[in-house]
Amino acid sequence: MTNLSGKTALVTGASRGIGRASALALARAGAQVLVHYSSNEKAADAVVAEIRAAGGNARKVAADLRAADGPHALAARVREVVGGRLDILVANAGISKAVAIADMTVADFDDLFAVNVRAPFFLVQQLLPVMCKGSSIVLLSSLAARASVGTLSAYAATKGAVDTLVRHFAAALGERGIRVNAVAPGVVDTDMSSIVKTDDGRAYALGMQALKRIAQADDIAGAITFLASDDARWVTGDTLRVDGGSKL
Ligand SMILES: NC(=O)c1ccc[n+]([C@@H]2O[C@H](COP(=O)([O-])OP(=O)(O)OC[C@H]3O[C@@H](n4cnc5c(N)ncnc54)[C@H](OP(=O)(O)O)[C@@H]3O)[C@@H](O)[C@H]2O)c1
Repeated sequence: MTNLSGKTALVTGASRGIGRASALALARAGAQVLVHYSSNEKAADAVVAEIRAAGGNARKVAADLRAADGPHALAARVREVVGGRLDILVANAGISKAVAIADMTVADFDDLFAVNVRAPFFLVQQLLPVMCKGSSIVLLSSLAARASVGTLSAYAATKGAVDTLVRHFAAALGERGIRVNAVAPGVVDTDMSSIVKTDDGRAYALGMQALKRIAQADDIAGAITFLASDDARWVTGDTLRVDGGSKL
């Protein structure tokens, strides 16, 4: 089993969905976990309580990552808590907007890029002083970055930007021994995923997947834990598809 004892991880958007599952998985592997949330404090408290009840070490940290200074405020708080060293950053917090091209507003477009692209960029920038040789950064991409699914063009563009950041960050930070990768989930059964809430949507998702079931957040958390761990010590600059073989 993956051993993350002695490591400290920050998971953004850890109150719900894939972030929550990742925080729990990293904690099960032995990491101390900073559980980030934005508005859902009760849900973050529940994640912290679940980790502590299982004998792990966790605490919550709050920040609105849509605000221009949100990543800076979060990084400052994290640096206070961890002292000199952060081993794992899972920049998972994200928002989506399923809307026809004709109906996309400038405000929603800007919000998508603020939370999904600007925030991870500046969070990495602001946390670099406490990341060291062996640290691992995992970003969240999406199937939508490489294939047309639903009415997600603006959201998909944010995830294409994430894939680009992964390659540039990995190239720039490799010399310091810091690895940078992303996972690209397909359809996952979380609050974000409106497609799994209807029979037609589920049929559409199953129709494009090789594996015929709807993914749960845990299915993604395992891949994130792998990329965060030393088992992936020779993997950097990559986006790992974790989508049950979608749109092959
Ligand atoms: N679900 C899918 O099918 C799917 C597929 C591909 C990729 N992804 C990606 O996976 C990641 C997680 O998605 P999910 O499905 O787990 O989403 P989710 O269940 O909707 O959870 C979103 C998380 O992001 C946080 N968040 C939202 N807006 C924020 C803001 N302004 N500032 C800070 N945090 C904010 C939320 O915090 P609060 O609870 O405090 O609001 C929550 O913890 C996202 O990057 C998403 O794009 C998801």
